[in-house]
Amino acid sequence: MLTNKTIIVGVTGGIAAYKACELVSRLKKLNADVWVVMTAAATKLVGPITLRTLSGNPVVTDLFADELSTLPVPHIALAQKADIIIIAPCTANIIGKIANGIADDALTTIVMASPAQKLIAPAMNAEMWRNPAVKKNVSWLESRDFVFIGPEEGKLACGSEDIGVMSKPRAIVKEATRLLPGSKTASAADLTGKKVLITAGGTREAIDPVRFIGNRSSGKMGYALAEAARQRGAEVTLVSGSTHLAAPEGITVIKVEDAKSMHEAVIANRAGQHIIIMAAAVADYRPTITFWQKLKKESETIKLELSKTVDILADLGRLKNGTYLVGFAAETNDHVENAKAKMSEKNLDLIIVNDASAIEQDSSEIKIIDKHGNVDEHPEQAKHQSANKILDKILSQIT
Ligand code: CTP
Repeated sequence: MLTNKTIIVGVTGGIAAYKACELVSRLKKLNADVWVVMTAAATKLVGPITLRTLSGNPVVTDLFADELSTLPVPHIALAQKADIIIIAPCTANIIGKIANGIADDALTTIVMASPAQKLIAPAMNAEMWRNPAVKKNVSWLESRDFVFIGPEEGKLACGSEDIGVMSKPRAIVKEATRLLPGSKTASAADLTGKKVLITAGGTREAIDPVRFIGNRSSGKMGYALAEAARQRGAEVTLVSGSTHLAAPEGITVIKVEDAKSMHEAVIANRAGQHIIIMAAAVADYRPTITFWQKLKKESETIKLELSKTVDILADLGRLKNGTYLVGFAAETNDHVENAKAKMSEKNLDLIIVNDASAIEQDSSEIKIIDKHGNVDEHPEQAKHQSANKILDKILSQIT
């Protein structure tokens, strides 16, 4: 039951707006105090009177309406009263406004003024969902503790079968219940007491003092995992190679340069870790000789001899003593087959495989493979969402 819980349901202008009626009814059946806030576009798709009747409270459609005049500063009072704000459906436009600090209507103002947990259920055309600007906004919001549910694959308003459908009201209610303060299964708690070591970013193998061999890794996946694990209560150590990302708060970050220093940092910090996740893109080869002075442009061609680096993950697999070991595989072909081979060669408990094209992107399509050969396929989603799916899977295996 949701007795004594104040829930704001934000409804924005997507075709799925009618599904907000079912969402509100379900929340009311659980005894929540539900307040609906609609954007102007949403009122064209579903009637405020319907939502007022279902919620039993005035529907907020603009900041200056008389309906809420019993409250001193209505939108602030509502924003502060809320235990959770659910926006369902949420359009690309509203995601963009919230991510960029624009508060030009009742809903965006309330969201900005509220310290409550926010749960966003996007619904939009598939190409809009894949648009880099939307992806960037979703990623940014996820890194600021906004939780996203969906969108799912299904039949879209434009007729095509693709990603973009709003999650089912029942699933949204379930997720909201999980997130509510005081909930037994609040996501903030399920990794409490666990020590997690995560590697991220690419390594740089020095050729001389100014040049190196590197790779395109952005560190986004590893940082998303570190952030998500911290949010879920874990004690996180992040061994980070090169990245432009800012160090997440509340995490011990060890900066390293090359495969050798990453290996040393991981080995030095591995004792007592319950889970180790190698998300870093570690160079497989380094220059056999590192020149201590800058190489001069003298001959027409130069030859660079490369030697294998240590395989950190394989080393961890050999030393494994109760730690749950997770690897990544970035493949261009035979994804599952190659990943399974890596899992057995490196003695892993879990491996996540994605296409090599996901490198540098904000989102990815991942497959999570466990030791028993089960393959969980996840459609393209923001790396923060993938991170939580990976942590869910790990938790299901260790508890
Ligand atoms: N890895 C590692 N140390 C290395 C190379 C890779 O710990 N020197 C880890 C990566 O962090 C990743 C996993 O091993 O978790 C697989 O990395 P990947 O580059 O996909 O595979 P490789 O084992 O390097 O094999 P190949 O490059 O031939 O596909």
